[in-house]
Amino acid sequence: MPDCPERIHERARYLQDVQARGESDIRTMLNTRDGSIYMSLTASAAMFDMVRAIMENVPGTNAVTTILEHPSSFDAMTYYAQRTDKALRVAPSNPETGGVDVDEIVALIDADTALLSVMYASNISGAKFDIETLVERARAKKPGLFIIVDAVQHAPHGVIDLQKTPVDGINFAPYKFFGCRGSGVAWLSPRAAMLPHHRLAAKQQAAWELGSPAPAQFAVVSEIVDYVTWIGGHFSDATDRRELFVQGMHRIELHERALLHALLDGHGAQRGLRQMVGVDVFWDHPDLTRRDLIIGVGFANLHPTDAVREYERRGVIVYERVASSLYSGRMLDSFSLPGAVRISPLHCHAPGDVERFLAVTEELTAI
Ligand SMILES: Cc1ncc(COP(=O)(O)O)c(C=O)c1O
Repeated sequence: MPDCPERIHERARYLQDVQARGESDIRTMLNTRDGSIYMSLTASAAMFDMVRAIMENVPGTNAVTTILEHPSSFDAMTYYAQRTDKALRVAPSNPETGGVDVDEIVALIDADTALLSVMYASNISGAKFDIETLVERARAKKPGLFIIVDAVQHAPHGVIDLQKTPVDGINFAPYKFFGCRGSGVAWLSPRAAMLPHHRLAAKQQAAWELGSPAPAQFAVVSEIVDYVTWIGGHFSDATDRRELFVQGMHRIELHERALLHALLDGHGAQRGLRQMVGVDVFWDHPDLTRRDLIIGVGFANLHPTDAVREYERRGVIVYERVASSLYSGRMLDSFSLPGAVRISPLHCHAPGDVERFLAVTEELTAI
């Protein structure tokens, strides 16, 4: 729509409503009423901006992150640690869980830590980080610590509740959730939003949006929330949108856990990945409640890249994670793995899809 939402026409007012609904729906997803919403072009861009504001303005001589972070936060932390002369402390991964232990992160925090940046779940292994405990223990060690969370991987797979995990910044990407590319959504706490940042001087200090907004990107978020609350409505009589959203996400989580179980241990007559000769399941933590629906596997007879091609020939799209990739090398190194095939289905898959996938996988072991 060509009209600018910042005008007074009827169409502009309609676009303002679309944006207001989208903002309200972002708050529904995260369970927050205060703070600032920042819609950026990508989740990565929003992350760099949030890291910058905190690193440049919050006193401290060090910053803490983990080896499993996506480059969007790891590289932002590295860049701004250099620019602000802070030491970057990096917590190691745990090859058994595929995640990072809270103890390892908390051990790096002290009174001089300016920022902790950590992901909600690993996009390589699917391991969820215990953010609630981490926030509590990190702030017990340094009261008032600024914390940013990358929720890009986890947001489509589980409930996020900022009332239980009161961090200072969090981001997600609508395209991971049936939305489209071209936007990254961030939320900043009131104190983080007030830090100096790029801003039109006449706007409020806590405003982060720069330039005229894109209402369509807000409409995308509302569609996502409509969809999840629609699922929730099948299982609850609630009328509150957040309650329905939580119920919908909970059902998505349960369905995905069942799919994960079927992938690992088989379904119907089809044996699972764990039982297949010639297939190695990596980061196979037995407690499925600690994992998003992602599995990393290796083939005895196929390089990950060849396996991805063979899958594609059979109508299955998976992704190779190899040590030479800028998106996965650091993380794989931390697990001493040269590569993996990453399988990342979604709740819209059904048990029959899993059976077909497993049959194809078994076929690949015999190539
Ligand atoms: C965990 C995680 N963080 C951040 C991103 C960055 O998202 P984008 O490339 O859309 O900015 C991704 C993308 O895959 C991701 O998986």
